[in-house]
Amino acid sequence: MDMMEAKILSLIELTSSYFILELEAPKVAQSAQAGQFVMLRCGPGYDPLLSRPFSIHRRQGNRIWLLISVVGRGTELISLSRPGAQLEILGPLGKGFRLIEPGRSDPPAQALLVGGGAGVAPLLFLAEELAGRQVPLTVFVGGKTSADLLAIEEFEKLTTKLHLSTEDGSRGEKGLITGVLGDVLEQDTGFRQEIFSCGPWGMLAEISRIAEERQLPIQVSVEARMACGVGACLGCVIKAKAPEGEDYGIGDYRHACVCLEGPVFEAEKLIWN
Ligand SMILES: Cc1cc2nc3c(=O)[nH]c(=O)nc-3n(C[C@H](O)[C@H](O)[C@H](O)COP(=O)(O)OP(=O)(O)OC[C@H]3O[C@@H](n4cnc5c(N)ncnc54)[C@H](O)[C@@H]3O)c2cc1C
Ligand code: FES
Repeated sequence: MDMMEAKILSLIELTSSYFILELEAPKVAQSAQAGQFVMLRCGPGYDPLLSRPFSIHRRQGNRIWLLISVVGRGTELISLSRPGAQLEILGPLGKGFRLIEPGRSDPPAQALLVGGGAGVAPLLFLAEELAGRQVPLTVFVGGKTSADLLAIEEFEKLTTKLHLSTEDGSRGEKGLITGVLGDVLEQDTGFRQEIFSCGPWGMLAEISRIAEERQLPIQVSVEARMACGVGACLGCVIKAKAPEGEDYGIGDYRHACVCLEGPVFEAEKLIWN
């Protein structure tokens, strides 16, 4: 797979820390699955040298949208791009979410989507895919402050079951979104629930613990520093459980490339400590 040129169609600043980038990228848009990502060059030059990974937030026709949090030099450079400019892109990459089927099972399936901060990025694409299959959705969005609650209006179009929380209490419930999820799971909904989540590692670890306690299936999209995005540099490895009976000479775990095996994993296959 080669780098391609993608034209910037729009760049919308959501807050001083987040923006949405709309790109004309036909090959990516037409083959992307929810949860997959792209490697994006930060500008026309080679400084910074490495592309940066971003989840596909939405796609339609020949266009894709990325939801980007400005955290360092690369993302700041991208935020300074202008519509009409071209950025190099590689993708779609990685393994996306395994979608669930609508109510053929008894009890019927329900998807619980839990995102923290920019972690909602792949979850909107997923929500649109699941809503298209008539899978009932409950969405949980958490952030430090109300400015970190992203894509709320888009989720409201897909479900009436939207739970918000902020650590400072400026919007939604005060506290962590994991607490809200725990409370909602206490209620018996009569659905066969499956959790899909993306956000900081600590949040994913806690949600995985909650899911394990209740024996609920859970898929998580995890982040790692990436240099190549295609399995060549081994810079993105995380610890995964070794299959029964296999010994990798490093104990009861093995290394998994986030860019190839992930970024979406069944949470029970990872080592969380
Ligand atoms: C598969 C995947 C999907 C991603 N999707 C999105 C997305 O949809 N939207 C989004 O805003 N971001 C996403 N990220 C994170 C994004 O790639 C990084 O924030 C970005 O590369 C930072 O580049 P930078 O040059 O601005 O920051 P740098 O100058 O490289 O780093 C700035 C700070 O951010 C930290 N940091 C950088 N990259 C990561 C990372 N991957 N994980 C944790 N901390 C990091 C560094 O340690 C440093 O403290 C994703 C990452 C992965 C691996
Ligand atoms: S980023 Fe290079 S191997 Fe995953």
